[in-house]
Amino acid sequence: MLPQAVERVRDEELRGALAAHLEETRSHVARVESAFRAAGADPVAARSAGLAGLKAQHESQEAKEPTLRDLLDTSASIRVEHVELAVYGSLLGLAKTLDLGESAGLLAGNRKEEDKALDRLEGIADRLRKALPGA
Ligand SMILES: [Fe+2]
Repeated sequence: MLPQAVERVRDEELRGALAAHLEETRSHVARVESAFRAAGADPVAARSAGLAGLKAQHESQEAKEPTLRDLLDTSASIRVEHVELAVYGSLLGLAKTLDLGESAGLLAGNRKEEDKALDRLEGIADRLRKALPGA
């Protein structure tokens, strides 16, 4: 969803935020793999039914007005960030409970970047809402 949104959105700040988070997301994958290996587990890629549902929901939304289209992309990205934060929160709690310090540190790094991405996207969403025609 992120790569397509980077190409699609018109708002420059939004495009920059999404592109920056796309790069961060690539490093998140490497950190998660390292966190699992540090815990003695082999990481296995798996599709998330929840995220697939969010993507399908987003793809069903249409808007002709450019600012509203960007706002829909921003809102979809915000929903994904909330899911990711919940997952990192759960994994981080497990790593701490099991005293897996190295894994916890890696996961905490990802969660911090996800939190910053969410804050940035929420700020952009506020600005876009105020820029909607009739707002
Ligand atoms: Fe994210």
